[in-house]
Order: sequence, then structure tokens, then C-alpha cells
Amino acid sequence: MTMTDKLDRPILDIDPFGRESMDNPLELDRAIREAGPVAWVPKYGFWITGQDEVIREVFQDWRRFTSAMGTGLTNVLREEPWRTPSVILEADPPIHTPNRKVLSRVLSAAALRKLTDDFRAEAERMVDALVERRRFDIAADLAFAFPFKVLPDAVGLQPEGRQHLMPYSTLNFNAMGPKNDLYHAARKIVEENGTFEYVARQMAEENLIPGGFGSEIYAAAHAGEITAAEAGMLVRAFISAGIDTTVFGIGIAIKALMDNPDQWEALRADPSLARAAFEEGLRWMAPSPVIGRTTTAPTTLAGVQLGGEEKVMMWLSAANRDPLRWENPDAFDIRRRTVGHLSFGTGIHACVGQMVARLEAEAVLGALARKVRRIKPAGEPERVYINWLRGYHSIPVEVVPA
Ligand code: HEM
Repeated sequence: MTMTDKLDRPILDIDPFGRESMDNPLELDRAIREAGPVAWVPKYGFWITGQDEVIREVFQDWRRFTSAMGTGLTNVLREEPWRTPSVILEADPPIHTPNRKVLSRVLSAAALRKLTDDFRAEAERMVDALVERRRFDIAADLAFAFPFKVLPDAVGLQPEGRQHLMPYSTLNFNAMGPKNDLYHAARKIVEENGTFEYVARQMAEENLIPGGFGSEIYAAAHAGEITAAEAGMLVRAFISAGIDTTVFGIGIAIKALMDNPDQWEALRADPSLARAAFEEGLRWMAPSPVIGRTTTAPTTLAGVQLGGEEKVMMWLSAANRDPLRWENPDAFDIRRRTVGHLSFGTGIHACVGQMVARLEAEAVLGALARKVRRIKPAGEPERVYINWLRGYHSIPVEVVPA
């Protein structure tokens, strides 16, 4: 039975960002789904939903559910944000529209075609070197190493200073959540190491290597489509949103393939299933499990009355296993039709980088499937603890070459 509070709101009295929830993500997801279509989380004072249909309603209606007040816990118009809000993620039309248009073009399938060979070659090179070693950490040495090489190269970031990318991204994804110990620890590292200064430098046009996504974004500014300041902010969006998400997405897919040997065999038998395996991995465990909106005025959602300027947290990972939407949701099945999982969001803010993420993952999983016969665990995997992300920062393995 759903519990309610004095205001007759259905409530979910847990901490979704607490250690226990992070250690038991599937139980958290189930609790969110079972709390009802929408429930109030008293610990933080936001609404939560983990049902596919309800989440779609929120995503589809930016007039009722705005991004401009921030897509994390902070209301960026009322409270001090940790940085200037994004001109794409944390914006509604009309500000969102031209910025989105530019990034969509820079990251279109046609634009990415020229990267395919480079990504494949880099993945083959990395996997060959790892197979040679036999024992390694497939999270750190591959799922991390690959996106941290190819994405900054594609954007046109200088080779120097890239050690700042991971701490910055970690802070970004902690800052979306509560200002807890994880956030403060991540912030301290960034402040002590000059990371903010690095990011500011990398957003500037003169520091971008010509020919990459970054200089293409600035070309749109020169053509008058967006301002130069917006171009810099879009470069920052790559640094913030484009790497860790892919890292954990690839790691999750690899772990799921290791845990489900029949699925690994299916992939080996047909490496063209690499993209499908990644997609099913994203459904199975969303690397970015939650995204929020804020109500612009009092409104009703799934029969529940919400107030104005209240946060609604959409638990994408819970919806991806919603039994009303998915048959046998707990099975990892790379041949499943995964269209409609919510790990990239949907609506006007649906992940603009999803094609790059797919291209990266396809290169890595395809290379593994062709070059490795077995991936055996060689130690306990270690989960990552970041408020807004899920995945592994360590998966020790031993491989048998193909
Ligand atoms: C597996 C990897 C990824 C996942 C799970 C992921 C997840 C998401 C999600 C859930 C959203 C929707 C946010 C919202 O509705 O408020 C989003 C938006 C976005 N993503 Fe990704 N992302 C991934 C990879 C990437 C990559 C590789 C890039 C850049 C190359 C990127 C850049 C962005 C940007 C700029 C937005 C904002 C789009 C907008 O507001 O219109 N993402 N992503």
C-alpha cells in the first residue's frame, strides 16, 4: 500500500543518493516503481517517478516541466548554481533551439561517418595491447581509456591537461545531486588542482585544435547562428556530459556480457550485434539513472497534484525495467528490441551525443568480440559512487584470446 503524508501526498521515505541505495540499485529502482506513479521524497523535498508512461509525459511537455530551473536538485534560478547553467541542457526554447540545432548538426550521423574508421582502429589497437597482457582492469584500461582518448581528440582538445577531464566530470555529475560528502570531496579536488581554469581555457576558440567538433561549433558562431559565449558553453557540454556517461555505459555492457555467458557467446558468434549489446546494457542499467525537471506552475501528474516550482526526478533506470513496458525486464538479452529505453532521455532534450556514444561502444565491443574468446573475472568489481551515475570504476579480468 502506498504511504501518504499529512498533505495526502504519496511518499517514498528513502534516500536515493545514500550509500545503501547506491549499493542496491535494483532494489532502489523497484521501491521507486512501487511507490506509485509519482511519490514525494521527504528527505529532499522532490517528486520521484520510475514509471515509463509518466516519465514520457514529463519529457514531452517542457512548458509544464522546465529544464531552465536546472535538471538536478538545485533550482538554478533561485539558488546559487555551482557554475553558469548550460545553454542547452538547462534551457528551454527559444534559448535551447539554436544551440541544439548546432550540436545536432555537428553530431549528425553524416558528420560522424568520418570518425568511424578512427574509432575502430583505436579500439583494435587498445584491445590488441590488452589481450597481450592477459590480465588487466577492463573498466579502467578499456571502458575508461577509450572514451577519454577518442572524445577529446574528436572535440579538438589539446593533449595537455586532459587529466582534469575526469575530476571535472565527476564533480558535474555529483553536483546534479545533493550537496553531500561526494559532492564536497569532488569539488575540493577540482578547486585544489586548477581544473576550473583548465576548463575555461579549453572552452576558448584559440585553444581548440582545428577540424574538431569544437571548431565546428565556433564556425556556427561566426556564421551568426549562436553567440561566441554560447559556443564556449557548448564545448563545455562535451567536457561535462560526453565522457563519463559513455565510460560507464561501455563498462556496464561488458560486465553484463561477462555475467551472461550465453549473451557473450551470441555476440562472439555475430560481432555485428555489438551496438545492440550496448543498447541492451543501457536499458539493463542506465549509467545516468536520473534526470529532473521543475514544474512551472501547479499541475497534475498521473492523478497526483504537484505544486509550482517543484522538482520532479525521473528515475530512468527504474522505467527501463518497468514491467508494464518491458517483457521479462530483468533478463539481459542482446537480441531484444530495445527501442524506447529511456537512458538517453526523450523529447527535445534527448541526448544529442547518443550517436557518438553508440559509435564508441560499437568499436570497443566489436573489437572485444573479434579478439577475445573468454573474459574471466580476476577480482571483485568496484562500483562507482557518484550521485548522478552508475557503473564500475574497476573490473579486474583475465582474457583468453580468440
Ligand atoms: C551512454 C552515454 C550517454 C548517456 C547515457 C547520456 C544520457 C543523456 C540523457 C539522459 C540526456 C537527457 C537530459 C535531459 O533530458 O535533461 C542527455 C542529454 C545530453 N547529452 Fe548525453 N548521454 C550520453 C552520451 C553523450 C555524449 C557522448 C555526448 C557528447 C558528445 C552527450 C552530450 C549530451 C548533451 C549536450 C545533452 C543535452 C541535450 C539537450 O539538452 O538538448 N551525451 N544525455
